[in-house]
Amino acid sequence: MNASGKPAIAIDLERVICRLEDLQPEGARAFTIGDGDWPLRGFLVRSAQGVHGYVNRCPHAGHPLNLLPGRFLSPDGSLILCASHGALFEKATGFCVAGPCAGRTLTPLALEVHSGLVMLAASVDVSALREAPAPEG
Ligand code: FES
Repeated sequence: MNASGKPAIAIDLERVICRLEDLQPEGARAFTIGDGDWPLRGFLVRSAQGVHGYVNRCPHAGHPLNLLPGRFLSPDGSLILCASHGALFEKATGFCVAGPCAGRTLTPLALEVHSGLVMLAASVDVSALREAPAPEG
């Protein structure tokens, strides 16, 4: 609340992904935003640089990166791993450092953290991202 008794910011609850404290320091978390058969499917990861969000679509063949809920990381937790064909991505940039799409990047999702809540930034066009065609292999 500010001095006038109104909230300091207006929070769009449809863009809230999770509480920051619910994302483990070396964890990852899948989420969906939007209704219908084709919601925006994304995931969060944490790194030393902060919290990062990406569309859950591999630039190799367009598959979701995980096969199991919340399983997005390499065994040592240092990189994002695509479970389909083993591509590895930097957590902080989404850049693919090894695998069939080396040199390409995951689609980033701008995030904001307010009042301990991780949410999609207001600048993210959810409709455009969920309707984006699958990348070329
Ligand atoms: S779909 Fe991700 S490496 Fe092939």
